[in-house]
This record gives sequence, structure tokens and C-alpha cells, in this order.
Amino acid sequence: MSSTREQLIKLLSHHANTFVSGQWLSDQLSISRTAVWKQIKQLEEDGYRFESVPNKGYRLTYIPDKVSKNTVYWGLKTKSIGKKIEHYDQIESTQTLAIKRAQEGCDEGLVIIAEKQIAGRGRRARHWDSNHDKGVWLSLVLRPDIMPIQSPQLTLLTATVLLDVIEEITQLKPEVKWPNDILINGKKVAGILTQAQAEHDQVHYAVIGIGLNVNQEKSELTDPIKHSATSLQIETSKSYSKQLVIQTILNRFEEVYFNYLKDGFKSIKTKWLKSAYRLGERLEYSINGEVKSGVFIDLSDDGCLIIENDDRQQEKLYTAKIHWF
Ligand code: BTN
Repeated sequence: MSSTREQLIKLLSHHANTFVSGQWLSDQLSISRTAVWKQIKQLEEDGYRFESVPNKGYRLTYIPDKVSKNTVYWGLKTKSIGKKIEHYDQIESTQTLAIKRAQEGCDEGLVIIAEKQIAGRGRRARHWDSNHDKGVWLSLVLRPDIMPIQSPQLTLLTATVLLDVIEEITQLKPEVKWPNDILINGKKVAGILTQAQAEHDQVHYAVIGIGLNVNQEKSELTDPIKHSATSLQIETSKSYSKQLVIQTILNRFEEVYFNYLKDGFKSIKTKWLKSAYRLGERLEYSINGEVKSGVFIDLSDDGCLIIENDDRQQEKLYTAKIHWF
């Protein structure tokens, strides 16, 4: 059950184009008119702004640009993604908590957001630099009706969402480096970590972790990512509302995800390939210690990279190490 404050903000934000009277609010919330007034004053202290007109009541005119579960929630047009949000100022890792929630049986669409992660992690148990509030660090829980072999498609799907969102927000054209890195001008701006639990022919849950560097200045990037990473701020010399970035990601995610469940992977693959880093170029890769080379020609339906090797044979790369440079 949400608090009186949350219910009040919800009522006011749903009537943001009209005035609502103190009496109506007090009836809805079953509190006195004085209590309504006190709550409004507290909200003003937290940065909310209201127009208040005698005999008409209150109208919410401004929601502060501070990430909270409420401020994110109100900008969502989604049916399930983000219908439940947990927001933390500081947490070990949104991914770890989202996996716990998934195992406890939470509904699809739960989103865990943190301002800072003390133990943010990337693929292959790498550290993810997120012990500061300059980026978007979130994990979302899905329960897709897909075969376990299809779960890598979710990473590629998420990559297409981030490509769209970054382009919409910055007008830049990012690229995707297989399988999960989003690049701007060759530097990593975002990463995706997909962890799924499945058995036989059923995916129980998939947790999608998204880390997007938003407002870091160049001087704030430290070793070892100093030269290989970037942020939206560095690339455009502008800072961004994290709240808006999160809303844009979740709104777009739901649209693309529902389409994928309905129509399959084809359109995701097409979109992904359009922005694929080094598609059509020669790459070196190692399989079982053997270094080979070939041309990156396609993506398979199970999310693998397809290489045409020097013997003109096609090879599907799952976790092979690719030497991108
Ligand atoms: C990678 O590029 O290796 C994936 C990085 C994923 C980072 C995100 S930040 C939110 C979520 N919580 C984590 O601990 N990791 C993911």
C-alpha cells in the first residue's frame, strides 16, 4: 500500500491540467484538509511546485528532476515494464537484487534502479564502474515465454532499445558491438548483462541489467576504462535528466519486447545488423586456443556471430574471444 504522500502525488499528477480542491483531496485520502496542506508544503520543500488558487485548489506544475520510483513511474506509458519499481540511493548491485526478487517470484516488469552500485558487475564477472550517480544503473525482470536457447536474443533486443533511446536523446548514431556493448565513436557508453534461469524448454526468468554512462565528465572516467569508455555528456557536452532517460528506456523496451514476443526476432535482427560494429569486416578470433580469422557476415537467430572463415566456411561464434582491433 502506498503512503499518503505517494497517493497525493498520484492524484495531483493525474490531474495536472486542472485544479483539484483541498476538500476533494482530503476526501480521497481520508485525511483532514490541514493534513493535505501540510503534505503539499513538504512536497514543495522537496522541489515539487504547485499553483494554488483560492476556491479552486491545487495544480501540480513541476516534478523535480530527481530519480525516485514515483517520478519515474509517472512518465511511463507501459502496461507491465516498470509497473513496480524499487529505487535505491546505494546498493551492491541492482542485478543481484533483481535476481533475488525473480527467485522470490516477483511479477514480470519489476525494475530495480540504483543511484550508486558498490559492487556493480559486468559480463564475465568483470567490475562495472558505477559507484557514483552519473549513470543509469538498472535491472529489469522478465518472464518471457521463449525457449532457453532464445534467451541471448534478449541481450540483442535490449541493445536495439538502447540504440534507439541514445539516438532519440542525443541525435547521435551509436553502434552495437557484439554481443552487448553500445559504442559511440568507438567507445563504450553502455553495457548489457542478461542472466536467465531456465530448465528444459522453459525460461523461468531473465534479468536484464543495463548500465548507461550518462553525465560523467571525461575527467571522471578512471582506469581501466579511461580510454575505452565514454558518456552521453562527453559526446555531446550536455547533461541529461536521468529520470527522462530511464523513462525513455522503459517505454521503448516494452514496445520492442511485446513486438518481439508477438512477431519474433526477425525485426530485431535487422535493426541490430544496421548498427553492427565492424559488420562486413575481417576479424581475428580464438577458439580453443587457436587463432583464426574471417569476415563478420551475419547474426544467427540464436544470437551468435556468423563468420565466414578463410576456407569460406561459416562459423557460429558463441563465446569465442574476438580480437576486435
Ligand atoms: C557489461 O558490459 O559487461 C555489462 C554491464 C552491465 C552493468 C549493469 S549496471 C546495472 C546492472 N547491475 C549490475 O551490477 N550490472 C548491471
